[in-house]
Amino acid sequence: MNSQPSQKAFVPFVSVENMMRLVHHIGIETLLVELCAFVEEDFKRWESFDKVPRIASHSKEGVIELMPTSDGDIYGFKYVNGHPKNTKEGLQTVTGFGVLADVATGYPVLLTEMTLLTALRTAATSAMATRHLAPRGADTLAMIGNGAQSEFQALALKAICGVKTVRLYDIDAKATEKTMRNLQGQGLNMVACHSAQEAVQGAQIITTCTADKQYATILTDNMVGAGVHINAIGGDCPGKTELHKDILLRSDTFVEYPPQTRIEGEIQQMAADYPVTELWKVITGQAKGRTGERQITLFDSVGFAIEDFSALRYVYSRIKNTTYFENLDMLADPDDPRDLFGMLQRAK
Ligand SMILES: NC(=O)c1ccc[n+]([C@@H]2O[C@H](COP(=O)([O-])OP(=O)(O)OC[C@H]3O[C@@H](n4cnc5c(N)ncnc54)[C@H](O)[C@@H]3O)[C@@H](O)[C@H]2O)c1
Repeated sequence: MNSQPSQKAFVPFVSVENMMRLVHHIGIETLLVELCAFVEEDFKRWESFDKVPRIASHSKEGVIELMPTSDGDIYGFKYVNGHPKNTKEGLQTVTGFGVLADVATGYPVLLTEMTLLTALRTAATSAMATRHLAPRGADTLAMIGNGAQSEFQALALKAICGVKTVRLYDIDAKATEKTMRNLQGQGLNMVACHSAQEAVQGAQIITTCTADKQYATILTDNMVGAGVHINAIGGDCPGKTELHKDILLRSDTFVEYPPQTRIEGEIQQMAADYPVTELWKVITGQAKGRTGERQITLFDSVGFAIEDFSALRYVYSRIKNTTYFENLDMLADPDDPRDLFGMLQRAK
């Protein structure tokens, strides 16, 4: 009796270890550039995707979310959590994993870790928005919040937008020390700052990437000068924002998917008719991005399923003919498709 799985039973699985090998094999900056191109390609065909605000399950401590989408040929989803108190217990604030599946058969074709991949795709997406919205020649970034995402954000802005200097601030000085240590030797000038106010001095790009379960005010109106571009990454849940609402009154705000961002983004503080521009329309030339030197542009990022779909698609394309995955026996494959029970019995 042969109870070995057939080829049809296997789904390629990318573990954290293999994801790290893949990133080092490609090179992190090259990977961020390539991933950004995949995200941009999917933003250009935005209208061909099924879209729904992510399905969030909130608790006192955090949130668990499912993020599905499909382009009609491929289906993808990510499981992701956000628990700001986790780092105090030695756990990540954000972890994730995801699946890509063939729409024609419904069979999964990829299962992968998405904790590292989320950090990479979030950084690639911020850089894509920044490239379209930041003032010309912007090369100084204020990076506020120096946790798990921060190095990825800085490197993507370097590789994709030409950022040269990073001014760092975190309420925990140890986090800033960690980020500076990790970015040593990566070709960025780094300045540790003692306040958010100090960090934004001379920066044309401001990225806020902090984690707090409640409304926070990382930036107040007086800190934001004319002409800057802001990536507000950390405010991504009901009740969790980073910017004072007066900044939004002076900014032109760009979003991923308005029905989700109105619930989760900085704009949850604003009236339901607060004007926003969908980023994909800027990328396809259907809407204007930056229109003047003094304009403040705000990418109110919450993270949308299409970005994860792009990241899954990218990994799927990059693991072909490599050893950066293992085959998981994930799909039952009886000889007679209707004899699932018989297959079980024969394995006794
Ligand atoms: N928009 C997206 O697509 C997206 C994707 C991933 C994560 N996120 C969000 O980004 C945030 C950061 O994620 P992470 O994994 O880096 O979290 P993390 O917990 O590793 O880091 C957060 C950092 O923010 C710092 N911080 C908290 N309050 C601060 C304040 N008032 N001023 C300055 N620094 C402060 C903390 O000390 C910590 O170092 C989270 O809120 C997460 O939910 C968004």
